[in-house]
Amino acid sequence: MNKIEQMQQKRAVIEAGGGEKGVTKQHANGKLTARERIVKLLDPGSFVELDAFVAHRCTNFGMEKTSVPGEGVVTGYGTINHRLVYIYAQDFTVLGGSLGEMHAQKIVKVQEMALKTGAPIIGINDSGGARVQEGVDALSGYAKIFYNNVTGSGVIPQISVILGPCAGGAVYSPALTDFILMVDQVSKMFITGPEVIKTVTGEDIPQETLGGAYTHNSVSGVAHSIDSTEEECFQRIRSLLSYLPQNNMETAPQLACSEDMNRIDPQLNTILPDSVNKAYDMKEVITTLADHGELLEIMPLYAQNIITGFIRLNGKSVGVIANQPKVNGGSLDINASDKGARFIRTCDAFNVPILTLQDVPGFLPGSEQEYGGIIRHGAKMLYAYSEASVPKVTVILRKAFGGSYIAMCSKEMGADFVYAWPSAQIAVMGASGAANIVFRKEIKAAEDPTAMRTEKIKEYEDTVANPYVAAARGYIDDVIEPAETRRRIINAFDVLQSKKTTYPAKKHGNIPL
Ligand code: HXC
Repeated sequence: MNKIEQMQQKRAVIEAGGGEKGVTKQHANGKLTARERIVKLLDPGSFVELDAFVAHRCTNFGMEKTSVPGEGVVTGYGTINHRLVYIYAQDFTVLGGSLGEMHAQKIVKVQEMALKTGAPIIGINDSGGARVQEGVDALSGYAKIFYNNVTGSGVIPQISVILGPCAGGAVYSPALTDFILMVDQVSKMFITGPEVIKTVTGEDIPQETLGGAYTHNSVSGVAHSIDSTEEECFQRIRSLLSYLPQNNMETAPQLACSEDMNRIDPQLNTILPDSVNKAYDMKEVITTLADHGELLEIMPLYAQNIITGFIRLNGKSVGVIANQPKVNGGSLDINASDKGARFIRTCDAFNVPILTLQDVPGFLPGSEQEYGGIIRHGAKMLYAYSEASVPKVTVILRKAFGGSYIAMCSKEMGADFVYAWPSAQIAVMGASGAANIVFRKEIKAAEDPTAMRTEKIKEYEDTVANPYVAAARGYIDDVIEPAETRRRIINAFDVLQSKKTTYPAKKHGNIPL
């Protein structure tokens, strides 16, 4: 056998990973292998592998006799939509994808290459966690990965895909990245698994309920999306990256847009119900405004009273934050504030302009919210909006009450343009609550208190709860016809392209966490 054949043979062994038995088990568990995943995710033929020949140097528990092909992780680079990405995929067929010193070193190398070249990195997690035989070397490896996650945060997009177990401290690498994508019944994330929980607390809980994709998408807010299959998840990653730049020094690519940027949408003139107490679906407003009706929602199942996601306007990527009147009246609560603030910071870090659609009755009242720290969490919205230097355009559709009006990017939070629909009510609170306070005595003394109350609500609405008082002070830039919203916001973002802001020098701010 000549040297070239030797090399090919060595490579073939590595590429076989855990061998036929391991691959069959992986498939039987409804999972693709690490290499299959990479091939399906990247542009065809674009993957270039690095470090295939890396080997561990552990001698504990007979490990010197154990071959670990590829060290249980496949790493390298390739392209998605012809744009460079770095990638690693843990190979569960090899020692359960467990992470030892050299496995970690392979990941650390692609992290550093991604940062050096200003390219996104995608990590596919499918691992039994720290390689038990290696002990502290494995822990050190994790720590280096975490450190690099933080160093790269806000510089390059970092996407974590959970396609198998991701347990113990291992969860903290995904948690430090920008997006966590999960697949139903395939992904599992927890700090301590069901067995430890049973031992420590006596609680009996199945893996899926504890840390499955649905749990982390709808209950904990740890994950950003759920898909039914790995293939769907890969499509989502490709779409997500199309809304993001390669790094924080660039802007997201502008795609060709076949739709009229001056399009008028007459259906928006009648989208609001007659009564201010009735709900409507804010997603319809978003998809009406967007190019081709497309919205890529981020965290669609969590805190559904606020909508966060990416759209395109005339081919340009825009982040949307919008109250959803269909859920809890669109009020802001702890979870909505966390979701909104995090998304604002993601957009700002990657130079994606922000569109805010406001129809907010207030912060959700109640002791549960107060004890949970709504003051601290709500403050994140104010902080994130004020800090964001990207172009910010706000449209007030209907309610804009009290602190929540400010927290949804009023002019003072740095909104560059604020537009209001004629239906906007910008006030300290809703007209009915306000009338009860302002006209309490008159209503009580009236012969017909109900009629008096109705009259006073109308009086309050006419005097305060309309867009013209705010327009008269310049707090909003214009009152616009709903049908022309798309044209107006496209124009606004266009003229804001050259926006420059200056802030006092500081090490970093102190966002209320
Ligand atoms: C070494 C491991 C391993 C690990 C799995 N394997 N996890 N080897 N270190 N952490 C090996 C198994 O021994 C087995 O080898 C092969 O991988 C496949 O594992 P199975 O158990 O057969 O697979 P499955 O039945 O699907 O169960 C998957 C699993 C289970 C639930 C993940 O393997 C498991 O509980 N593993 C241990 C998890 C754990 O406690 N990890 C440490 C967490 S603490 P063979 O040779 O039999 O095929 C941690 C700290 C990190 O990670 C701290 C960072 C700061």
